[in-house]
Amino acid sequence: MSLVASYPRRAGQPYVPDRPFQEAVRLRAVSKIYETESGETVHALSNINLDVRSGEFLSVIGASGCGKTTLLRIIAGLEGGYDGELSLRGDSASQVRRNVGIVFQDSNLLPWRNILQNVLLPAQVLRLDRRASIERAHELIELVGLKGFEHKYPYELSGGMRQRISIARALVHDPAVLLMDEPFGALDALTREVMNVEVLKIWEATNKTVFMITHSISEAVFMGDRVVVMSPRPGRVVAEVDIALPRPRNIETLSGEAFAAYTGQLRRLLDIGSSRKEGA
Ligand SMILES: Nc1ncnc2c1ncn2[C@@H]1O[C@H](COP(=O)(O)OP(=O)(O)OP(=O)(O)O)[C@@H](O)[C@H]1O
Ligand SMILES: [Mg+2]
Repeated sequence: MSLVASYPRRAGQPYVPDRPFQEAVRLRAVSKIYETESGETVHALSNINLDVRSGEFLSVIGASGCGKTTLLRIIAGLEGGYDGELSLRGDSASQVRRNVGIVFQDSNLLPWRNILQNVLLPAQVLRLDRRASIERAHELIELVGLKGFEHKYPYELSGGMRQRISIARALVHDPAVLLMDEPFGALDALTREVMNVEVLKIWEATNKTVFMITHSISEAVFMGDRVVVMSPRPGRVVAEVDIALPRPRNIETLSGEAFAAYTGQLRRLLDIGSSRKEGA
């Protein structure tokens, strides 16, 4: 089994779908209202219409509390009780779990399981073939640069290493879509930059569709084919910006003029989103 996609990602070019347009995730008129135990209602999301294209790296930014995690949880099938429609590669919401892998801010590895056993967890939950899963887990551990650590325990790894393992775990059942919620939020700045580049390499090797939430505008631009900007609560999509920076991207990308122009544009869009809310 090879992790490398049958068609190479387009080196030196921005994202261009190389097959007929196909969305991996489709959200139509999705709204979510939470009812708290004290009887209050929180309007978390309002009328979200969004397609995540197959193979795309989509970054999502927006103020704290604007509903990003709620949106990710809806896509992941972890959040019920919403209005609107979700489809994932045309499948019904009930099949979603098989089709997504999730990476949270904290690696959430089980301390009593070694690294290999942690990576295997989703495959066990989904009752996938054990032999094939072990083979794939080894490939993924190598892909995230931790070959040789299979029999170590989480406490023996650094924060960055643990987060790499949580990415391997999210991919072990070969989901079409990788959902990441501030995956680098708990890392120091230097580790974070290294991880940005590493995750792009993993994405390029596996050709997954990625939906990544981040608080960092520069990370959103550096990694994304497209950046979705959400308004403060109730979260709405206020802008979608295509990032036409060539790939593969590297540290030099960060010092280019085009990169600065995109981050400036997004900063202004986030500001406009906030002032709209204030004026509402
Ligand atoms: N289980 C819940 N019950 C009630 N309200 C909730 C629940 N989960 C989230 N909320 C509320 O919904 C809103 C959106 O929360 P969410 O966690 O999606 O925001 P976010 O954009 O991910 O924020 P952050 O950037 O801080 O992670 C917030 O006002 C939050 O308080
Ligand atoms: Mg969140």
